[in-house]
Amino acid sequence: MPSTKSTVDNMDALCAVKTLLRKRLGQCWVPEKFIGFEKEEKEIYDLLKRTVSFGESNSVVVIGARGIGKSMLLKSILNNICEDKKIAQNLLQVHLNGLLQTDDKIALKEIACQLQLENTFGNKVMGSFAENLQFLLEALKSGDDSSKPILFVLEEFDLFAQHHNQTLLYNLFDVAQSAQTPICVLGLTCRMDIMELLEKRVKSRFSHRQIHLFNQLTFRQYTEIFQQYLHLPEKFINPKFALKWNSGIEKISHDSTVEDLLKRQFSINKDIRKLKSFLMHPVCRLSENHPTLLVSDFIDSFKLITTDSKSSLLQGLSILEICLIIAMKHLTEIYDGEPFNFEIVYSEYLRFARNRSSMQIFNKSVVLKAFEHLQALELVKPLDGTSTRTQKEYRPVILLVHPIQLKEVLQKYPSCPTEIKHWAISSFA
Ligand SMILES: Nc1ncnc2c1ncn2[C@@H]1O[C@H](COP(=O)(O)OP(=O)(O)OP(=O)(O)O)[C@@H](O)[C@H]1O
Ligand SMILES: [Mg+2]
Repeated sequence: MPSTKSTVDNMDALCAVKTLLRKRLGQCWVPEKFIGFEKEEKEIYDLLKRTVSFGESNSVVVIGARGIGKSMLLKSILNNICEDKKIAQNLLQVHLNGLLQTDDKIALKEIACQLQLENTFGNKVMGSFAENLQFLLEALKSGDDSSKPILFVLEEFDLFAQHHNQTLLYNLFDVAQSAQTPICVLGLTCRMDIMELLEKRVKSRFSHRQIHLFNQLTFRQYTEIFQQYLHLPEKFINPKFALKWNSGIEKISHDSTVEDLLKRQFSINKDIRKLKSFLMHPVCRLSENHPTLLVSDFIDSFKLITTDSKSSLLQGLSILEICLIIAMKHLTEIYDGEPFNFEIVYSEYLRFARNRSSMQIFNKSVVLKAFEHLQALELVKPLDGTSTRTQKEYRPVILLVHPIQLKEVLQKYPSCPTEIKHWAISSFA
């Protein structure tokens, strides 16, 4: 029964696709080809290569905004460098993170652990930090007094500058400068003012090599990354399935609707983390009954990730609070954007409520409480420079809700009385 067998194979392949793509999107996956930052990639690659091949010591700080791809770039470079088996065996790596190694003692222990020198270190009487580090580096030397090159990666580099006396940084840079042991110190940070955080004596030992990363992705590259995340590798368990899947991805990435969504997403935020959350929803939808990615999945996902937080906030308001927002909407139109105060809002509310026999009319203190709640939610903002001595009922305020947001909320609001909807619509004319 070939057809049943192929169905089972396809189901297995689909499961494998789902697991693979979810792993890519949920964890830090490094693609074979890193897109963007070609120049910086080459610069760091050359630097590391020089340490590994010629025993040259270096220090460098890579600076770039959060989520721009600093860690990913480094991982991709290390993968490339370690493709050469000889280098992979020769290069020792120590990865520290300022969020984990919160003081230099912990950092030293971690260094010993990652260099597999815990036992050697364990027997030694603790001396100063410099002695300990020197001891560790000496222990790595082989019989002929040559050392393997070591790469120190310091993630969240700026946090190490907060450590007491910046001892770790000072000693690492000092070793890098003295060139006894070939080491490369590579810091990653999002702080543009990192140089100002370093002490003078630390700075004097630093090479002052800084590499700045800026997000200069083009839309084409952005689309390429989109395809890269969904593309199946050649070695996939079911090559026939992979071929079909990949041609589907190629097709969908050129679909005008998906392209439009990507363009909109790109113009809002070029961040790849955002792109990953855009892809997560369609991937999670894959199932036996939904074996391919559809354009509608991407539309839904886009709606999900671009949810306006203010609209969701409005969704949770009480009917009275919605009424006050509508009243303020009217007042903003009447006063042409000029501020108003609670008393005016209250009389506008009363005018509406009294005309509707079915409406429950709340007394003033209740309405004031609701009004204050709207202020606390920052949907209503008191005007800057208003004296706090002014009685709260008379403090000038403005409304921070856009008419479109209100319109959307009223459409979705569960069992919203029709007369309130009409009242609101009357101002949208
Ligand atoms: N060129 C790219 N191709 C594919 N994925 C990328 C690319 N650039 C960044 N990413 C993805 O974006 C996310 C953020 O990247 P990364 O963690 O490297 O940023 P970072 O600059 O180190 O951020 P942080 O400052 O928070 O440490 C990661 O999940 C990574 O997989
Ligand atoms: Mg990082």
